[in-house]
Amino acid sequence: MINVPKGTKDMLPSQSHKWHAIESAAKKTAALYNAKQIRTPVFESADLFLRSIGDSTDIVNKEMYVFEDKGGRRMALRPEGTAGVMRSFIENNLGESLPLKVFYIESLYRYEQPQAGRYREHHQFGAEFFGSELACFDVEVISMAHDFLREVGFNDLVLHLNTIGCGKCRARYNAALREFLSGVSEKVCGDCKRRAVTNPLRALDCKVPSCRELYKAAPKLGDYLCDDCRAHHSAVMNGLDACAIKYTEDDNLVRGLDYYTRTVFEFCDGDLAVLGGGRYDGLCEQLGGKHMPCVGFGSGIERLIAAAETRGVGFCENKPQVFIASLGCEGAKDKAAAIVRELRADGISAEYDLMGKSLKAQFKYADRQGYLYVLTIGDSEMESGVYTAKRMADGQTFDVRDGTVAKDVRRILCQK
Ligand code: HAM
Repeated sequence: MINVPKGTKDMLPSQSHKWHAIESAAKKTAALYNAKQIRTPVFESADLFLRSIGDSTDIVNKEMYVFEDKGGRRMALRPEGTAGVMRSFIENNLGESLPLKVFYIESLYRYEQPQAGRYREHHQFGAEFFGSELACFDVEVISMAHDFLREVGFNDLVLHLNTIGCGKCRARYNAALREFLSGVSEKVCGDCKRRAVTNPLRALDCKVPSCRELYKAAPKLGDYLCDDCRAHHSAVMNGLDACAIKYTEDDNLVRGLDYYTRTVFEFCDGDLAVLGGGRYDGLCEQLGGKHMPCVGFGSGIERLIAAAETRGVGFCENKPQVFIASLGCEGAKDKAAAIVRELRADGISAEYDLMGKSLKAQFKYADRQGYLYVLTIGDSEMESGVYTAKRMADGQTFDVRDGTVAKDVRRILCQK
């Protein structure tokens, strides 16, 4: 018996309506913001992620699925979506008309220790906006994230907001943080000892509880911001206030990827982020393109579904409409096949028995599947050309005539 790989899950047919609900909320929100879909390959050159997410992040260092292809190239399964989108933006000269707004719905791969809300394969709805330094750009992306979550059915997730400044502020802050980390170096984990030297900011998203506790006393980036970054952050907060989007300032939020500059944010359900993002003004240049200010977010679909379930946010399931039960002569089966085609051509979902079940078993199947109506065809109905449609909710019956089946069914579907 071969099982599903550790840290991955099948999307089972009984769950598919939840995924469809989230994907349609994503597409609907994207259309409202004029964001167009982009698809990039599931694997890319490993270098792309090293140079964008950063070689001292956990994602690249510990969690990336890296492999050598048959041509000896070092490839990686994408651990996140932004880097591939940026590669495509540069390669395809997508920046001719700005702003450019794109979105994606895709699978991502991180070799994590599997636990609730943390998988080795997960899926994200993400958006990336290219082109503007203005604070309204950050506000527009956060507004899209907010509207998407509201469309799914959430209205009480907490938006955490912070700024991590630009390279200039970061250099001054890193010096202070290094000094702090050297003072506690005896008490921190091995990874943080290394981070203190290579990339001190990464220590602040260490998952070891004793390190997290120690870092509460670390210097705050907010105290090292340059005037421009401080002004930008105030403008973002003013913009969110003007849009009536509530947030809490969270100076512990640094995010786990190196490409961010200035604004970072997360929408959280308790301790788990269901959506995270920020501004990344240096990434395009870092990957060989020109200077290009950008803001984006990614939202984990598995976490959204779990959060919706614990909060009792429902996902509508479209009920199938008409099941044709047939009995008696072979002609009844052929008639059933013809009628389902006629109904489907009219946009009505319909099915008939493909298993040779008894009439009773056909009704049981239709009931289990949630069919709204069952239309029965037997010898007498074949003769008279009048079929009976039974409404499953209350047993009421309706006549449907051969020749006008789709029209008659549409009429009864419209009745309350
Ligand atoms: P991220 O915070 O690494 O950011 O992931 C975004 C979201 O994906 C998280 O908030 C979470 O909901 C979900 N997620 C991440 N890892 C897992 C996992 N192992 N299992 C289940 N869900 C997970 C990014 O990926 C950035 N690319 C977001 C972004 C786009 N920033 C700018 N543009």
